Amino acid sequence: MRLETLDGAAARAVLPALARLRIAVFAEWPYLYDGDAAQEEAYLATLLAGRDAAIVVAREGEEPVGMATCQPMGESYAMVQAAFRRRGLDPARFCYFGESVLLPAFRGRGIGLGFFAAREAHARRLGLQATAFCSVVRNANDPRRPPSYIPLDGFWRRRGYVPRPDLSCVFHWREPGDAAETPHALGFWLKDSL
Ligand SMILES: CC(C)(COP(=O)(O)OP(=O)(O)OC[C@H]1O[C@@H](n2cnc3c(N)ncnc32)[C@H](O)[C@@H]1OP(=O)(O)O)[C@@H](O)C(=O)NCCC(=O)NCCS
Repeated sequence: MRLETLDGAAARAVLPALARLRIAVFAEWPYLYDGDAAQEEAYLATLLAGRDAAIVVAREGEEPVGMATCQPMGESYAMVQAAFRRRGLDPARFCYFGESVLLPAFRGRGIGLGFFAAREAHARRLGLQATAFCSVVRNANDPRRPPSYIPLDGFWRRRGYVPRPDLSCVFHWREPGDAAETPHALGFWLKDSL
């Protein structure tokens, strides 16, 4: 399995594949995202609007089977920056990790670990001192949670990330069976030194 970090035009070229992977992977618990191409286009526009974003791509042969994104938080969503400022944290110190999506058949082989290593390397190249990402906050008693689901919390803690329940923001998306988007709280995880 090959991992490569792309930026600029090369990153732009894989955006349609990133949208397909996001729609496929985030359809599952815990995200339950009923996404479409138009929503994806709007979401991903922010990613490459700045200069220093990167996309890490995992390929099986030529086919992308997973991707992870990152960008300086200062170039990222205003809502994310506002959440950090509200808690007295300077967004300019952080590299924001947007998402990691890997098709289920390729999980458990260390690719997720490689996504973190490659994005932290990108953050260091940019001279940033800290990294952060967010994940959806779900009710532990939600009946839609599959019994076999393994939370990623342990994996994130072992990578040095610490949950910050005091730091959160709200993204909107439509869940399957719903006619309209609904609000979803996302909680942040931080790593303060790289
Ligand atoms: C996050 C994700 C990319 C991780 O990918 P991965 O290649 O399976 O990760 P790794 O193989 O590097 O390791 C995953 C960790 O989960 C565990 N794991 C192993 N097999 C697993 C599996 N089939 N499913 C879930 N977790 C598994 C391992 O214990 C490992 O933790 P450890 O190395 O600290 O012990 C992948 O699970 C995914 O796409 N999930 C759905 C989307 C998501 O929730 N993304 C995160 C928020 S954006």
